[in-house]
Amino acid sequence: MKVVLGVSGGIAAYKAALLLRLFTEDGHDVTVVPTAAALEFVGAPTWAALSGKPVATDVWSAVHEVPHVRLGKGADLVVVAPATADLLARAAHGLADDLLTNTLLTARCPVVLAPAMHTEMWQHPATVANVETLRSRGVHVVDPASGRLTGADTGPGRLLEPEEIYAVCRGLTSGAPARSPGGSAGEGDAVEGALAGRRVVVSAGGTREPLDPVRFLGNRSSGKQGLALAAVAAARGAEVTLVAANVALPAAPGVKVVSVETALELQDAMTSIASDADVVVMSAAVADFRPKHYADAKIKKSHADSAAPGAEADESAPTIELVRNPDILAGLVRSRGEGTTPVIVGFAAETGDAHGSVMDHGRDKLARKGCDVLVVNEVGTDLAFGRDDNLVHILRQGDDRVVEAGPAPKEAISATVWDVIQDLLTDS
Ligand code: CTP
Repeated sequence: MKVVLGVSGGIAAYKAALLLRLFTEDGHDVTVVPTAAALEFVGAPTWAALSGKPVATDVWSAVHEVPHVRLGKGADLVVVAPATADLLARAAHGLADDLLTNTLLTARCPVVLAPAMHTEMWQHPATVANVETLRSRGVHVVDPASGRLTGADTGPGRLLEPEEIYAVCRGLTSGAPARSPGGSAGEGDAVEGALAGRRVVVSAGGTREPLDPVRFLGNRSSGKQGLALAAVAAARGAEVTLVAANVALPAAPGVKVVSVETALELQDAMTSIASDADVVVMSAAVADFRPKHYADAKIKKSHADSAAPGAEADESAPTIELVRNPDILAGLVRSRGEGTTPVIVGFAAETGDAHGSVMDHGRDKLARKGCDVLVVNEVGTDLAFGRDDNLVHILRQGDDRVVEAGPAPKEAISATVWDVIQDLLTDS
């Protein structure tokens, strides 16, 4: 695989040298494109020696080779680590004032940006807007880790570890062959993804069960894990539909989005799309219950509120009667036909309790739901929901072995989940 490793000017540039080693040790052909500021931190000889290639920062070296176009067009992956606030801003605005930003404009392959900066810069509305713009264009901006920064301060803004960035890159490009420098594959060759020709449907987010025109019963699922699963599948060449239940974040380019709100709407969408899918992934958090009655008008606190001033307030509270929602995952497994046998994957958000550990509940759920794969993650006030990293145990039907993934960014977790699914697709 042809990789362009961009390095922008932050102290974390030294970690990019380790990332470079991970790529080269796996046999990938890496061209390092530092910015001028990056060279203040780690010099060109280091990059040249580790990559075995000359290093340029501007578009004026080796002009006859048209590097500002050639590098981006010929890459199977562009990864920038660290990506500074300045680099994010230039990329978001489409500037092309050095070789790296030119390369970002000409790349048509997956692009991963791993930011590193002080917390104030990461949280500044300008950076937040730039990240949003880049993500909406399909750039994979991974959230930085939280931890010790350059000085004594700590907070979000720390560059992810090289192994974590590598795992994200691997997830987005799996199926791409390693290509040694000067290898036979030509410039700009398309890399066939491991899921090419496969139809995939992923549910994401959390359902909302309306109570009255302004209230609903819902849950804290952000949809990030489902979005990452969809992004990785699309990057590996699958035709992906995302059934999004109240997801505020954009899906990766190329992913078809069907928006739903309630469990019943989710069930309808999944049932119709799953009928001709090769893989069905239920990562949405589905409400098990919904209010039995929907109030057409807003439910008032008490009738006394609208009574005359000074009237005694009614302290009673209404009781909301609930009814069960269908178990969508179990239904999809039950209705799996003879001819069409998609691989069905469930997720289980578990906490340990008096009745068993997280894994006990996971095994139990795999047996109960009958799906092929169950991805079990631990949830709690500080775990999983809304966070960018995750830790999961992947269980397979009829196989006692457990595949562990994480703690790692959700893209990297998704890569491992798809690796497991791909094995089942190959076996079937
Ligand atoms: N699920 C579903 N329909 C439901 C509830 C859950 O399809 N009504 C799916 C989820 O999308 C997930 C899996 O089932 O893939 C497990 O969800 P979870 O909430 O962990 O399981 P429950 O069946 O709700 O079991 P419990 O809440 O009792 O642990």
